[in-house]
Amino acid sequence: MQNTSHAVMAQRVEPLNSPDDFPTPPWATRGLIEYILPEKERLKSMTCLEPACGAGHMAKVLSEYFREVRSSDAYPYGYSHVRDFLTYPYEKNGADWVITNPPFRLAEEFVLRALDIARHGVAILARTVFLESVGRHEAIFLLNPPSRFAQFVERVPMVRGRLDAKATTATGYAWLVWEKKASIAHPRLMWVPPCRRKLERPGDYDNSHLVTSRSAKAR
Ligand SMILES: C[S@@+](CC[C@H](N)C(=O)[O-])C[C@H]1O[C@@H](n2cnc3c(N)ncnc32)[C@H](O)[C@@H]1O
Repeated sequence: MQNTSHAVMAQRVEPLNSPDDFPTPPWATRGLIEYILPEKERLKSMTCLEPACGAGHMAKVLSEYFREVRSSDAYPYGYSHVRDFLTYPYEKNGADWVITNPPFRLAEEFVLRALDIARHGVAILARTVFLESVGRHEAIFLLNPPSRFAQFVERVPMVRGRLDAKATTATGYAWLVWEKKASIAHPRLMWVPPCRRKLERPGDYDNSHLVTSRSAKAR
């Protein structure tokens, strides 16, 4: 039976067969590069895989910073290859970075798979509550804590199937970063500072069925 308590209802629960298509506003991806990832200038010589790219809203921004961005998604959005990240035979060390906003219900599996594939590091955008749970502690954090945990101080509204400049949300988000060669015993706690206004660009919300008349329900 589905748990409908207030605490659970406050977090949207997607059906098991849902693609969980909630695109990332471009400014939130720029926030990762501008404030959180180390050695921003070196990214120009590196490759990046975005393995759950959807309509490409994160992949396009990553292309502003990386030499090459490869992308794919398990569902056809008309943007890139159709590949299930959890089963497609990606090469170990096949990309310098793996960066994505995965479907929340598969985020644990995405982190473990990404750590196998990335040569240099992994960055995952997830709800702040991703830090919780005994299961994730045992599967990931105990042996593989992120090297950086960066909480957004602003809200990052994401709505199903499109970008919406006017959406609001009650959910907090963070970037979790694993630098594979960093000998960091404890994660560095960081904040993505207020940056939405500074990092939004003209055209960011084009082709996104922009909703201007009312605010949409975000996750
Ligand atoms: C939260 S959306 C994020 C989309 C995109 N990364 C972005 O940030 O704009 C999650 C994406 O994961 C894709 N997805 C779901 N299951 C997947 C899987 N097993 N392998 C690859 N992509 C998957 C969905 O189709 C959806 O596009």
